[in-house]
Amino acid sequence: MAPVNLAGRRVLLIVSGGIAAFKALELVRLLRKSGCDVTCVLTKGGAQFVTPLSLQALSENHVYQDLFSLTDESAMGHIQLSRSADLVVVAPASANLLARMAAGLADDLAATLLLATDKRVLVAPAMNVRMWSHPATMANMATLAARGVSFVGPDVGAMACNEFGAGRLSEPPAILAAIAALLSAPKPLAGKHALVTSGPTHEPIDPVRYIANRSSGRQGHAIAAALAALGARVTLVSGPVTVSDPAGVKVVNIETAAQMLAACQAALPADIAVFAAAVADWRVTGAAGQKMKKTPGGAPPVLDLTPNPDILATLAAAGPQRPALVVGFAAETHELRRHAEDKRRRKNADWIVANDVNPATGIMGGSENEIHLVTAAGIEDWPRLAKDEVATRLAARIAQAVT
Ligand code: CTP
Repeated sequence: MAPVNLAGRRVLLIVSGGIAAFKALELVRLLRKSGCDVTCVLTKGGAQFVTPLSLQALSENHVYQDLFSLTDESAMGHIQLSRSADLVVVAPASANLLARMAAGLADDLAATLLLATDKRVLVAPAMNVRMWSHPATMANMATLAARGVSFVGPDVGAMACNEFGAGRLSEPPAILAAIAALLSAPKPLAGKHALVTSGPTHEPIDPVRYIANRSSGRQGHAIAAALAALGARVTLVSGPVTVSDPAGVKVVNIETAAQMLAACQAALPADIAVFAAAVADWRVTGAAGQKMKKTPGGAPPVLDLTPNPDILATLAAAGPQRPALVVGFAAETHELRRHAEDKRRRKNADWIVANDVNPATGIMGGSENEIHLVTAAGIEDWPRLAKDEVATRLAARIAQAVT
């Protein structure tokens, strides 16, 4: 078999109870060998057969066991844990866990993650042949399959309980192959080009001074990364920021609004455009070519300002180059909904992501965002979320809209 390359991919592996749980250790080893990042969740039943220490040593990641553990929640909250992987794998999946999944229970960490996840789920069942062929288990499997859950196995063979039949956990290489097949399935934004602006612009006063704003670029960069994760080719036009360049994204660094507009126009055509940058509305008219000097007793200089081009409005204007979906941002301190809807119409954007940037919200420059998505259909109020999570959800919405 050709070596499997899952470099950069992330799997959340749920290990439930059963004698076959020992095979989860080999699966973790194979996943790590393929370059995949693995985080394990061990159920109470699973912990009867393998230890968290073995899973932790092999996965090189913290092992999560308890829904109500303060340490686990502070390492990574259970909702984030359910969303941070590319794929959720349950191996082995006991008859009991399959039943809890089918019923939609959230009575332990594993079941809660499976209920909360927005990612694909691969299940590798393992149980006694009679439990497997019981109508209850068959009905649970049919329910899960109808909900889009994927399966690998079970295999037919001799069982630990001295019976023979279907119910054996698939061998780890077969589970690895099923994981690789799911992870290499075409991504929804494959073949699409997305243009994203991010960060502030710097408008020079003279060679050493400039006008800027508090934008960190975190939200725009996270959106670029989330669109790339869904398979889009992404051009990120960024003002000066300290956040790192997202992996797999073409980054064009600029300083001024005029440079940002030129870089955006050069990047066209694009299918999707997201204007998350906090572009300076004005630049200094005739910025000094040399450093401005103080003269003792002299009057302070007066800055004359010229309006900058509106990049969003320019690229959203109707025409053959207009991206199919144009998303603008509205950073407001008052009357947010009215200003955001007005901006959507005035700038000809399809959607506006509006947020309240009053300093008390801690949003501008912070790591969380609470957005209101303004579309032609109305306004959706999203909960306060990590900027990465806002980006993931927004990218998923964009994928739905353009595919
Ligand atoms: N924008 C832009 N080019 C500009 C100004 C803004 O592309 N010169 C984009 C931003 O990236 C954002 C949206 O327009 O997507 C709204 O920006 P914002 O500064 O909040 O609104 P303004 O139109 O500048 O209105 P105001 O300053 O009156 O709030």
